[in-house]
Amino acid sequence: MLNATERSSEIFETAQRYIPGGVSSANRRVEPNLTFTRAEGAYIYEADGQRYIDYHAAFGPAILGHCHPEVNRRVAATLDRIDLIGAGAGELEAQLAQKIVEHVPSAEKTLFCNSGSEATYSALRVARAATGRRKLIKFQGCYHGWHDAVAMNVISSAAKIGQRDLLSAGMTPEVVEDTLVLRFNDVEELTRVIERRGDEIAAVILEPIPHNIGTVMPHDAFLRRMRDLTAAHGIVLIFDEVVTGFRHTLGGYQAVAGVTPDLTTMGKAIANGFPLAALCGRADLLDRCGPDGDVFFAGTFNAHPVGVAASLATIDILERPGSYEHLFGLGERMRAGMTMLIDRYGIQATSTGFGSVFVTYFMSAPIDDYDDLLRNDVAAFVRFRREMITRGVYMLPVNLKRNHVSLAHTVQDIDTTLEAAEDVLKQMR
Ligand SMILES: Cc1ncc(COP(=O)(O)O)c(C=O)c1O
Repeated sequence: MLNATERSSEIFETAQRYIPGGVSSANRRVEPNLTFTRAEGAYIYEADGQRYIDYHAAFGPAILGHCHPEVNRRVAATLDRIDLIGAGAGELEAQLAQKIVEHVPSAEKTLFCNSGSEATYSALRVARAATGRRKLIKFQGCYHGWHDAVAMNVISSAAKIGQRDLLSAGMTPEVVEDTLVLRFNDVEELTRVIERRGDEIAAVILEPIPHNIGTVMPHDAFLRRMRDLTAAHGIVLIFDEVVTGFRHTLGGYQAVAGVTPDLTTMGKAIANGFPLAALCGRADLLDRCGPDGDVFFAGTFNAHPVGVAASLATIDILERPGSYEHLFGLGERMRAGMTMLIDRYGIQATSTGFGSVFVTYFMSAPIDDYDDLLRNDVAAFVRFRREMITRGVYMLPVNLKRNHVSLAHTVQDIDTTLEAAEDVLKQMR
């Protein structure tokens, strides 16, 4: 049984003394407080060297596995030649934009920044500029970053559903009030709101699969109706593919669904763990963000050669035949294996996910929107994950969090994970 070691606890104590709560991003503070000091492929190593199979994947970036040698070599070679110049066009940046335009259906042009939050911020700003409208629609359960327009209604308590459930104090009320929060997969509500208030609404933003609450699959009719309604009312449709971009094919989930938004945001997996995010979409919208446009888009570190080189290397690897077959195959093996165990031990649980993403909710289906997830047994969900950690499998022990398979995981890793899961489920029966 693995547990936090002495060295791990010492590092955590020091961090806590100098950093609020010991972490620089709110969701990183979890029990047990393990401190990881090395990562390689499918594994992360705690300070005293204990190895864990990693499915947390830093919330999603590590699609090839940690410290991928080809990516790291490309980054190192780039750094031997150039760091940040910050003037003029970038050679690598142009190559990467071209690749994204080739792969992502909605992308006619692309801009780069450093985080998903920056990308969604700019997507909303350009939508407002293009439409001359203020309001936007987001959906309960979707996360789009930390800024005021969207930092609300992700994992809400039952009492907060139907109201604005803010993630933070200090947000500007006028900004918050411009965001309408609707139910995911509810075609009727979406139709009603857009037909009544369409001329006030600048943008509809969504995670095409809301992975910030695990995996809730979009109904085909929901996405198609949304596309038709937004087009008919001149509303900018934004797919936030910060999790799904490159993870569910190089074209994102839009390529799978066959629904093309006006704007797309991507981050996380596009550079396999190096900081890079992208805003891409219709040329007429993106051009407004250029130096001749009326929407201000800037950033000292935007399109930093480190992230751009990492992304080019990541694309090279993902373009190879078999990459997505491997990712999707392992995801399916895990989901099917979990379903078998759930049935065998008579646990009230549902194994779901898409592609390389898997999650086991402790509740029965159907799961079509956030309201359904209120039936999830939070204590069982978190206990299962904590128990998996003591058996050397790292799944973030926080309610509704998803797991990720990477290209570095093997069939053996999945089977080892399923053996550990069997042991835990037997106990939980
Ligand atoms: C779908 C989605 N959009 C946007 C963001 C914000 O990205 P970042 O944390 O890089 O600012 C996240 C982060 O988890 C996300 O999952």
